[in-house]
Amino acid sequence: MILVTGGAGYIGSHTVVELLEEESAVIVYDNMSNSSEKSLERVTEITGKNVPFVLGDVLDEKKLSSVFSEFNITAVIHFAGLKEIAESVVNPLRYYENNVYGTQVLLRVMAAHNVKRLIFSSSATVYGDPAETPIREDFPTGATTNAYGTSKYMVERILADVCRSDASWSIISLRYFNPVGAHSSGLIGENPSKVPANLLPYITQVAVGRLKELKVFGNDYPTHDGTGVRDYIHVVDLALGHLKALNQMSSTTGYQVFNLGTGEKYSVLDMIKAFEKASGKTIPYRIEARRPGDIAECYADPALAKKVLGWSAQRGIDAMMKDAWNWQSRNPNGF
Ligand code: NAD
Ligand code: UD1
Repeated sequence: MILVTGGAGYIGSHTVVELLEEESAVIVYDNMSNSSEKSLERVTEITGKNVPFVLGDVLDEKKLSSVFSEFNITAVIHFAGLKEIAESVVNPLRYYENNVYGTQVLLRVMAAHNVKRLIFSSSATVYGDPAETPIREDFPTGATTNAYGTSKYMVERILADVCRSDASWSIISLRYFNPVGAHSSGLIGENPSKVPANLLPYITQVAVGRLKELKVFGNDYPTHDGTGVRDYIHVVDLALGHLKALNQMSSTTGYQVFNLGTGEKYSVLDMIKAFEKASGKTIPYRIEARRPGDIAECYADPALAKKVLGWSAQRGIDAMMKDAWNWQSRNPNGF
């Protein structure tokens, strides 16, 4: 059985759908600090399968340990974490406690129960501002610009050390680029509790009338139209990357790192155009100053994941936009 921490969240719920579709047994462990039980009900609606769920915090060692005692856990996918960049700058200790210490608690409990297979949700943010693009896994990491990014980098270092200390561990960090979109059913999707900081949820909320206009942060970057360029990846492709990583790690040990991106690059203006095409809506926007901490260009070289995991993203920009809009228009106020 696969333990999915943070499985009620955005990426976790999409991954649980794919695990259930391939007949894997799962159990979700989530404290619901940034999610709703409705997402798991919707997962059941999509798959026709019940989702075993324990309400708990990864910082609660006793409760977490009881899950390992009760269920036959063979591997863990660890999504549970806080992810708001701006909040992490204001309240870094909360981020280090939840994301770094939370992972340490999980590792301790796993070791005590002799479960030594783990997939960790890392981020392209660990590369900081890369010297060149596309970004490969062997590029330098650690020059992060906020406590969220640093927490991901610190966890990666801990995971590498754990694998070095004991050769029976198999741990994979997946560095996500920019996850967007939703399940094609429109039943689950991204559900930000505050005004979205990320581009596509902001655009979709403008489209349903919850926000007035998009602010484009800077049009003087050295990119094809001056706006920031990113590697947007469909959340279902991302979810499928976890299944491939689980397969691969059953026959390997040690610490491995993979980019999960498409290798395609889109600017903010490209994203607005693609969304307008998919939705038939017009997105009013205004050019504003650059957002502090933003970089010009960030996109993956996804070759390693293809070679080693046999994974590559299959869904293009049109599907990302269509599915994001399907989710937002059916659920204008989220779950
Ligand atoms: P999300 O907030 O939707 O999901 C995270 C889930 O973890 C939530 O359901 C939340 O309630 C739960 N959680 C948080 N702290 C917990 C704790 N201490 N104990 C138990 N549950 C806890 O976020 P998401 O977008 O699905 O992201 C999942 C993971 O991927 C996170 O670790 C995030 O940092 C990472 N990541 C996300 C992105 C992105 O753009 N969405 C990019 C790179 C990496
Ligand atoms: C940020 C985080 C990254 C995280 C990712 C997805 C940093 C440096 N990066 O990436 O760690 O993995 O979110 O959660 O903190 N934009 C606008 N207007 C908006 C919002 C965004 O113009 O209202 C632009 C940004 O300037 C950027 C692009 O859209 O060029 C994408 O922004 P966003 O969705 O916030 O993701 P990142 O900044 O790439």
